[in-house]
Amino acid sequence: MKIAICGAGTVGRGVTEILKGNQALIAARTGGSIEIVVVASRSAPKDEVFEGLAYTADILSVCARKEIDVVVELMGGTTDAKTLIETALGAGKSVVTANKALIAEYGDALFALAAEHNVQLLYEAAVAGSIPIIKVIKESLAGNRISWLAGIINGTANFILTEMASTGPTRTFDAVLQEAQALGYAEADPTFDIEGIDAAHKLTILSALAFDQPLRLDQVQVEGISSLDPADFKFARELGYKIKHLGVARCQDGHLEMAVHPCFVPKSAILSQIDGVKNAVVVCGDAAGEILCAGAGAGAGPTGSAVVSDLIDLARGSAVASRSKARDGVMASLPVRPAAEVASGYYLRIKVEDQPGVMSAITSILARRTISLDKILQEDIAPNRSFIALVTDPIQHGVIMDAITELQSMASVIAPVQSIRVFR
Ligand SMILES: NC(=O)c1ccc[n+]([C@@H]2O[C@H](COP(=O)([O-])OP(=O)(O)OC[C@H]3O[C@@H](n4cnc5c(N)ncnc54)[C@H](OP(=O)(O)O)[C@@H]3O)[C@@H](O)[C@H]2O)c1
Repeated sequence: MKIAICGAGTVGRGVTEILKGNQALIAARTGGSIEIVVVASRSAPKDEVFEGLAYTADILSVCARKEIDVVVELMGGTTDAKTLIETALGAGKSVVTANKALIAEYGDALFALAAEHNVQLLYEAAVAGSIPIIKVIKESLAGNRISWLAGIINGTANFILTEMASTGPTRTFDAVLQEAQALGYAEADPTFDIEGIDAAHKLTILSALAFDQPLRLDQVQVEGISSLDPADFKFARELGYKIKHLGVARCQDGHLEMAVHPCFVPKSAILSQIDGVKNAVVVCGDAAGEILCAGAGAGAGPTGSAVVSDLIDLARGSAVASRSKARDGVMASLPVRPAAEVASGYYLRIKVEDQPGVMSAITSILARRTISLDKILQEDIAPNRSFIALVTDPIQHGVIMDAITELQSMASVIAPVQSIRVFR
């Protein structure tokens, strides 16, 4: 099988290293070679792994070359990469990509184009690096009705949360972010990672696949981690939780729920054990039960490994189509539950001026809305100043927001009320 690698950056290097380094092993496993015919990229590749390979700066030219069977898109972005993939599919070439933003936004049209031309568009590397979660959902759990999935699907955010949890109250979010940038775990512009946009791309892809639905990036509720305070990590610890940035998708009562947000995860839950830059996804199928997949979510080797697994499927002729047959009319498009109606437990942190009756005023605001409390703590932080930290039982988002508005209007509540969902 002859391929073109488009994009000679981190992932392009990883893929080339694997294909060169494990050439004999891959040939033995596929029964034929996977040959890199050309590397196409904006600028000539500098890494020595590309030495000896033909190079072109004319990306689209690879689509016109008859001998190329598969185009590997590793450039990123949603403009030139989209044109490249459309042109390659239109020319009858299968495509392998690691581009989550492109698949989340334009995947449905691209899968249809691939089907029209009787070729494949594969994207294992687009979600959670080395973790074969696309294959697990598409193939291993194909006989299951999936009810929910939840994942730590951004290593940068998980690194920051792990650091904030493991050190003292002086390490603010900004200080830990700077450290992540110095270590190369966060981009100079970290917005996509810390505001949950990258995780939303991945959750969109996972939920479309798990529930046989169209890709609906604009229906994902997204909340980042930049508003978390060291005090939240302290209370999480004392209340028996860890804070994780989760992508959660659920299919319940004929409705879909898709959200990316920070969560209090009980220490006993497996996802709370996933620390540092690691990724993990739990999927719950009606027959299989809960399955955990964990590993490296990014980097040249791990992401390259996922790209190469797609290439091997194509070489073996065993690739499974990206678009579920259920989407061709068997299963209906499900409505997405409005954010206000999604139920969850909540942690609230309320900074108050100590006055007689503050606690009972707070609990009565909650009780009036039938919000019941699971845990409550009060901690003095300065003379006449306390934090009240509490955890509620599951309640609709709209109801807790309404309660927070009333709490905020109390004269003795002297700072914005912090609210974080509890993972159930
Ligand atoms: N890095 C990871 O760990 C990781 C993990 C999972 C998925 N991904 C995805 O994999 C893809 C590649 O990521 P990466 O980290 O390898 O990126 P990268 O290191 O920035 O490399 C991108 C490569 O593509 C080239 N390129 C970019 N835009 C181009 C264009 N319009 N025309 C021609 N060449 C272009 C770049 O050339 P220049 O050097 O001239 O800019 C560079 O060689 C992205 O979609 C990313 O989301 C990455």
